[in-house]
Amino acid sequence: MSIPAIENSVNGRNVPELPSLDLSRLPRHIAIIMDGNGRWAQQHGVTRASGHEAGAKSVRAVVEASRELGIGVLSLYAFSTENWRRSKLEVSALFRLLSKYIGIELESIHKENIRVTVMGRIEGLPARAQEDLRHAMELTAGNTAMVLNVAINYGARAELADAARKIAVAVCEGRLQPEDVDEACLARHLYVPSLPDPDMLIRTSGEMRLSNFMLWQLSYAEIVLTPTLWPDFRKPDLYKAIAEFQSRARRFGGR
Ligand code: IPE
Ligand code: IPE
Ligand code: MG
Repeated sequence: MSIPAIENSVNGRNVPELPSLDLSRLPRHIAIIMDGNGRWAQQHGVTRASGHEAGAKSVRAVVEASRELGIGVLSLYAFSTENWRRSKLEVSALFRLLSKYIGIELESIHKENIRVTVMGRIEGLPARAQEDLRHAMELTAGNTAMVLNVAINYGARAELADAARKIAVAVCEGRLQPEDVDEACLARHLYVPSLPDPDMLIRTSGEMRLSNFMLWQLSYAEIVLTPTLWPDFRKPDLYKAIAEFQSRARRFGGR
């Protein structure tokens, strides 16, 4: 089914400026590197913390749009294992914002039947952030309409090292044989093993690198880059990115 540009309703809800999207070929899993909050702040003459606040509005818009379209999984890169290199002031502002976002949004996320999962070294986060994230995961554990997968204190290398360690322990304890360690086994030991691989990766702000994001899972993802800074990214930008995804020929090494 193809939706013409003038059609502005999906699942009975109003969706402005929808480009022609083939609803039968939507990505099952969209991953986003939300980048450019700092540059947005600089452009607007505000603090970096205010840039992150502005970015939270984009998170709301993109979660809503994904839910409306019927996307199965949305993974958002919120804080990397390398982001600890930033100033204490910025890092604490980010975690304050996370708790504030959960406080404001969790109820509607739950009402929308969205399940929250967290990907990363949760135990390395400030206590308050851990509590809020665990509460969000527990509250929404039974939800089935969409998964909102938040990558926080996440690094793909850390994830692969953690998986290797879990596998090593299982082998040492005799629960696993070395010959059973294959791609499927490794995938089962990632942080959130139940998720399908992302079909599509979006990175905002014009940067063209992975910055240690989902190195294993992104092997065959279509990469869509946009110069738009994350706080300016809204529903139409997501539709445009999906339209670009739908214009690609995915071959998976075949012909
Ligand atoms: C992304 O925006 C948010 C996080 C990494 C937490 P940045 O803060 O990286 O913004 P720029 O790249 O400095 O513009
Ligand atoms: C990647 O953005 C991490 C997140 C979006 C959370 P960065 O801004 O940290 O990445 P680099 O430093 O430009 O590679
Ligand atoms: Mg950045």
